Amino acid sequence: MSSASTLSVRVARKATEALDICTFELVDVNGGSLPAFAAGSHVDVQLPGGITRQYSLCNDPKETHRYLIGVLRDPASRGGSRAMHEQVQEGQVLQISTPRNHFPLAHDAKRSLLLAGGIGVTPILCMAERLAITGADFEMHYCTRSAERTAFRNRIASSGFASKVKFHFDDGAAEQKLDLATLLAVPQPGMHLYVCGPKGFMDAVLKTARGKGWPEAQLHYEFFGAEVAKSDSDASFEIKLASSGRIVMVPKDKTVTKALAEAGVEILMSCEQGVCGTCLTRVLEGVPDHKDSYLTPEEQAANDQFLPCCSRSKTPQLVLDL
Ligand code: FES
Repeated sequence: MSSASTLSVRVARKATEALDICTFELVDVNGGSLPAFAAGSHVDVQLPGGITRQYSLCNDPKETHRYLIGVLRDPASRGGSRAMHEQVQEGQVLQISTPRNHFPLAHDAKRSLLLAGGIGVTPILCMAERLAITGADFEMHYCTRSAERTAFRNRIASSGFASKVKFHFDDGAAEQKLDLATLLAVPQPGMHLYVCGPKGFMDAVLKTARGKGWPEAQLHYEFFGAEVAKSDSDASFEIKLASSGRIVMVPKDKTVTKALAEAGVEILMSCEQGVCGTCLTRVLEGVPDHKDSYLTPEEQAANDQFLPCCSRSKTPQLVLDL
């Protein structure tokens, strides 16, 4: 299901985990257990200033007393990571969604290859915890700019799976750099690859794997804040507002929400990246071109709702329940 209910959590601990990376330990406000989660899950966190951001849970998924998230202070932040670093303090109560998982482990894997770039380590670390608990065969590679920017180094070093993790630092010696072409050279049946990190890292991993013939079903990935895919086939189309019959043109280079806002029709938004669901709008006629990562594939296929902050139209007109 795409719907998630809201939880009130208290920031029990905020800690500096590495240069520019903080962790936040979130506990139930009443001291109760939190809903269970599987490796790869994230929660939507409602931040001061009315924005919502998605953060992967990076604690051991067998824990029920807390959720742990790690947040990189991103200089290009549109407000989310800065608000977390500067405004959210220990003791504060936050509203979060229940955990949702768009990045699950494949349970039939014979072997798993976990690749993390920078703060993309958060879901990957959770996967490593889970695979270690189940005694599964896996190997993890963790690439960062430098040792001081490497979150969870101590936790990994003192874990039972430390020997399965290799660190690769951009500022380190050439021989410790990750050699993707060699690592991904031969896809094996039953071997699954998981990757999370900055877009350039993920593109390099996925391009190499695909080039070496890895089947798509064995590739698993989660983009931060879900990069919205722009396509050359994006075209202009029109939106008809069902209530008034008014037509609003959406040019090729504008989102539906932007075009509507310029026409004086405001839709509540948060992430603006198709991950939080805030802008969900009913579609009465026409076929949306879904670009979000919020709706399930089944929900997208129903074509009766879409996320106008990122999705477009496959038909010349979409009639919206507005
Ligand atoms: S604003 Fe988050 S999905 Fe559209």
